[in-house]
Amino acid sequence: MPSPFPPSFAWGAATSAYQIEGSPLADGAGASIWHRFAHTPGRTADGATGDVACDHYRQWRGDLDLMAGLGLDAYRFSVAWGRVFPQGTGPLNPAGLAFYDRLVDGLLERGIRPFPTLYHWDLPAALDDRGGWLNPDAAGWFADYADAVVRRLGDRVDAWTTLNEPWVSFHDGYVTGDLAPGHRNAFEAPRVAHHLLLAHAAGAEAARAAGAGEVGIVVNLTPRVPATDTPGDQAAARRADAYLNRLFLDPLFRGRYPEEMAEMFGRAWPDFPAADLARIASARPDFVGVNYYLRETVRDAPGAWPARAETVRQPGSTYTEMGWEVHPPGLTDTLLWVAETYGGPPLWVTENGAAFYDPPRAHSGRVHDPLRVRYLRDHVGAVGDAIARGADVRGYFAWSLLDNFEWAHGYTKRFGLVHVDYETLARTPKDSARAYAEIVRSHGAALGR
Ligand code: FCB
Repeated sequence: MPSPFPPSFAWGAATSAYQIEGSPLADGAGASIWHRFAHTPGRTADGATGDVACDHYRQWRGDLDLMAGLGLDAYRFSVAWGRVFPQGTGPLNPAGLAFYDRLVDGLLERGIRPFPTLYHWDLPAALDDRGGWLNPDAAGWFADYADAVVRRLGDRVDAWTTLNEPWVSFHDGYVTGDLAPGHRNAFEAPRVAHHLLLAHAAGAEAARAAGAGEVGIVVNLTPRVPATDTPGDQAAARRADAYLNRLFLDPLFRGRYPEEMAEMFGRAWPDFPAADLARIASARPDFVGVNYYLRETVRDAPGAWPARAETVRQPGSTYTEMGWEVHPPGLTDTLLWVAETYGGPPLWVTENGAAFYDPPRAHSGRVHDPLRVRYLRDHVGAVGDAIARGADVRGYFAWSLLDNFEWAHGYTKRFGLVHVDYETLARTPKDSARAYAEIVRSHGAALGR
């Protein structure tokens, strides 16, 4: 069997700023909503914060060497907005931007392609004080930030991502309140979704004007399938699918929200201006980054707001430490679905990975993580299947390079290919890192499919 992975296919790993950097206020940086949220009692497991995290802000050189040792072609990281603009707008902080400048140079010196994300959930707290994503000015704030970063790094970066998983910013930030800024409000949430889309559009326009090559967006997609063939469960799956998988992609590629949104939110879903939707669709992404972790089987649940659907466990399936069902064919299906539904944009798998239990300490320099090795191999294979069936997938990023701060779960969920001992901050490549290095070295042939 010839390898399905084209010669230019890029193998990478992903992280985000607040989850790994630590030193959140160093060198003049302004606090983010995540700094504030994590420091609010009761919001994160064990009261964990990103104050130290993986100390990547200081240990970045060693982390780049780790990546080079794994043979990675590309690295997906995020820029912390508050390092660049401590107040979100206004005076630029040169020391903050210089960190990412050095990081990009360090990657290029090691032959690793930088793949930056401008916004991975860490809105400057000063902007939240002005309404955050509820403020219609947010699109303009984001555009000014995008302009500054692209001007500085754009000569060495050829693909930019505006937002990471806007659905999570909207749903977990404003519907359930589980993640920063922790609101739970039916009237706020639709406006936040809309302003995130406008920010993507304004940010993409600004980045392109500042000379950015490609500008894309990263969305989290999860197949949501009905538990039974009853009309109630079928309708629940349709709502749950529209809510998660189409809420952001339909406006971007079709210029309209899924009709199910108004059905779910009722009068709380505004009649957004047609001109806004036209602007959103005109900033069509050059690529779509797909974050894929799990499949969900759903059934009708009238009390479950807003999609009136709830997830049921599949007997016989494996679940990760997050309670997520392991279902590799779902990645193939998802990539093919995006390609077919939205006109075949170039795709990247920008996150994929699993939290399984790993010990806090490595033993004799090793961490055996057979479940993660299996997950990785099966999902990379699923990407190959999608390519073999015609999807234009340009690369794969494992989530995550390092064990890190998993948001409200703090340090209790380990997703890394590389183990981090949170007492000593020692890094130890797990068996999954070794398996991935072999996949990368053989360009997928090590999967033996
Ligand atoms: C995604 C996030 C990423 C990480 C993984 C496990 O939703 O983008 O930061 O938390 O989940």
